[in-house]
Amino acid sequence: MPHGFQYLRGRLHAESAPLEKIAHRFGTPCYVYSRAVIEHNFKRFDQAFGRYPHMVCYAVKACSNLSILRLLARQGAGFDIVSGGELYRVLKAGGKPAQIVFSGVGKTAEEIDTALHSGILKFNVESEGELDILAQRAARLKKRARVALRVNPDVATETHPYISTGLHEHKFGVEMKVAERLYHKAASMKGIEAAGVSCHIGSQLLDFAPLLEALDRLLALALRLKEAGLPIRYLDIGGGLGVPYRSGDQRPDPAAYVKHILAKVEGAGLEVIVEPGRSIVAESGVLLTRVIYRKTNGSKHFVIVDGAMNDLIRPALYQAYHRILPIKQVNEREATITADLVGPVCETGDFLAKGRSIPVVEPGDLLAFATAGAYGSVLGSNYNARPRAAEVLVEGSRAKLIRKRETLADLIRNET
Ligand code: LLP
Repeated sequence: MPHGFQYLRGRLHAESAPLEKIAHRFGTPCYVYSRAVIEHNFKRFDQAFGRYPHMVCYAVKACSNLSILRLLARQGAGFDIVSGGELYRVLKAGGKPAQIVFSGVGKTAEEIDTALHSGILKFNVESEGELDILAQRAARLKKRARVALRVNPDVATETHPYISTGLHEHKFGVEMKVAERLYHKAASMKGIEAAGVSCHIGSQLLDFAPLLEALDRLLALALRLKEAGLPIRYLDIGGGLGVPYRSGDQRPDPAAYVKHILAKVEGAGLEVIVEPGRSIVAESGVLLTRVIYRKTNGSKHFVIVDGAMNDLIRPALYQAYHRILPIKQVNEREATITADLVGPVCETGDFLAKGRSIPVVEPGDLLAFATAGAYGSVLGSNYNARPRAAEVLVEGSRAKLIRKRETLADLIRNET
């Protein structure tokens, strides 16, 4: 992995650009991404497949900034989208329709029409109702929709309950048994081509085992359907590979994961599609914040920074842990405090970190929250009428603004 964020001469840098300078130029809070890390992570997946037919469809939801989509498109990435908005972004960024897969439980007829007009590769269909609507829309527009049913392989995953998706009790996908029936229905529908099978069992999985178990079940289904004469060509196993948030967490290697996949699918005559999001962008980004105040309530220390739950909601929503990187490198003898790091939003749930041992910081000091490139800026909101943060992409020593900080006028632009 290239050095995305590192201390050089005692100061934290993004690649070789000092974060102090970025904060000064673009203000805080601010998301800062390393281009080298994104490209490296994409290539780890892509190159591991070698000559085996495959497509790495980046899950746009993880971070949908146009500049980031554009650099992935230039690397040859495909895209996994879940809305008309994401389709719009990908096309604007130069993504090729023939490399787009459309997931999600609630595609509207309007979104389906736009996707059919654009000529996307396939729809990952999540219910019988959706299959019916898709067939109707395709017939009306005289288009052919390539379809993969998203099946629910019923594999348990060890992750936060809010990001686990592969069990019966979740809203996603259709049961295996139901899927077989729906495939035979799909095969007889005009305008529908039963072109693949798909699944996605959850996110932030640090172990390959559940992913490979789901793959086994999906592969068995694909082979049964092929044998029954359906034109199944794509085996789409979703995203889900995790990243280390805490020091000491393991870092599952995409290339090793792909090797396991290939060992199973070799000879099956299927093109493999993966939909990684987090494992491409999480480690490429930090949320850069500045300390506003320090206070104590009784014996409890609080550090109040200018970034808040509206900028990074993962700690509040999933009890997520993001490492804190002080901008000034800490030496071991330095005094520390144990503090909650909180934002200015008026909610008890507005915290970025709890009970952390950090060096004694003063108002004006900069702190970066690590591993914030995935599901960070995209989950940002305007809660408490806070303008959304700026985003900056670093390449070597160059830092480029890829999303302007919102202005106060932006906050009320669509209101009367
Ligand atoms: N494909 C589908 C159909 C998905 O639903 C997802 C993520 C992905 C691919 C990409 O998964 P990844 O490789 O990123 O694990 N906001 C949560 C994560 C939600 C994931 C939703 N689906 C978080 O911050 O942890």
